[in-house]
Amino acid sequence: MQAPQLFTFLTLGVCYAAAWSVSNFLMTGPKAYLTYTTSVALGAQSGIEECKFQFAWERWNCPENALQISTHSRLSATRETSFIHAISSAGVMYTITKNCSMGDFENCGCDESVNGKTGGHGWIWGGCSDNVDFGERISKLFVDGLEKGKDARALMNLHNNKAGRLAVRATMKRTCKCHGISGSCSVQTCWLQLADFREMGRYLKAKYDRALKMETGERPARAGNSADGRRAPAEALPARLETELVFLEESPDFCARNASLGVLGTEGRECLQGGREAAQGERRGCRRLCGDCGLRVEERRSEVLASCNCRFQWCCVVRCDQCRQAVTKHYCARPRG
Ligand SMILES: *[C@@H]1O[C@H](CO)[C@@H](O)[C@H](O)[C@H]1NC(C)=O
Ligand SMILES: *[C@@H]1O[C@H](CO)[C@@H](O)[C@H](O)[C@H]1NC(C)=O
Repeated sequence: MQAPQLFTFLTLGVCYAAAWSVSNFLMTGPKAYLTYTTSVALGAQSGIEECKFQFAWERWNCPENALQISTHSRLSATRETSFIHAISSAGVMYTITKNCSMGDFENCGCDESVNGKTGGHGWIWGGCSDNVDFGERISKLFVDGLEKGKDARALMNLHNNKAGRLAVRATMKRTCKCHGISGSCSVQTCWLQLADFREMGRYLKAKYDRALKMETGERPARAGNSADGRRAPAEALPARLETELVFLEESPDFCARNASLGVLGTEGRECLQGGREAAQGERRGCRRLCGDCGLRVEERRSEVLASCNCRFQWCCVVRCDQCRQAVTKHYCARPRG
């Protein structure tokens, strides 16, 4: 199977690409893969859903076409591509790891390798630690397996795939249970558990916000150095930066539609007009989506029917009225005149 097809399969997962690509994959893929294909696809899909969530109010909002663009177009070694790679790689690792803990596969389970050992003061390892080693291996096998090249772009993708997997590890949490006479908690057993996927998504979004640009341009020609002057990101990066996302090319501003770049533009997008309760990223929503792109904010009011005046009646029903409620939404629109 060709890499782009498999990538489509991985990222669009079960939605619509899978129907043909799963069977395609099953026929030609190495046998060892078979057990995991569905879970791998689900994992990549959950990564993409998380991408959509994390970028819902950004100019670039993780559109479906970005997934193909990121492998097919040459102009795509941007920080958005780095996020897509990291989150799908993390999603695969996460899902496979969970599958192991749930006993979904015969050949893996909880990581109990240190159970019984003292972990720290007053606690010992015990219980079902999520087996991230296994999930990591499978993610590497599938997601890294898509990179055939050895150029800077391929190395960038591999680096970001790895950063995604490291994010799964970095966000793991120790969870403990008390033991001892009547819950005195004199002894605790603890195990390592995956964080919520949402938390992992937030972690990677923060990595995206401060992603590093790798300089790969030709270095000034030097005598005796006629070799291609490209530095590959993986080689250029010190080890302490391995958890960071890297990119090679600056992104467009994503304001205006540009079909050849696969950019949809922000005209017509709904934006959030920063209320007090808005989350930090949302507060600047309309300005960033519309104003900074030369668009105006259009207010549209509508009415919806919603439950109201609800009261509890003994016993045990809740009765509500249907009320009309005014809803105001904001959209980016072309300037008048
Ligand atoms: C792996 O877990 C996902 C949900 O997290 C589930 O939908 C899928 O069926 C599981 N895979 C197997 C082989 O059970
Ligand atoms: C789309 O982007 C490319 C690359 O930046 C640029 O050369 C081209 O002019 C743009 N097209 C439009 C319609 O803006």
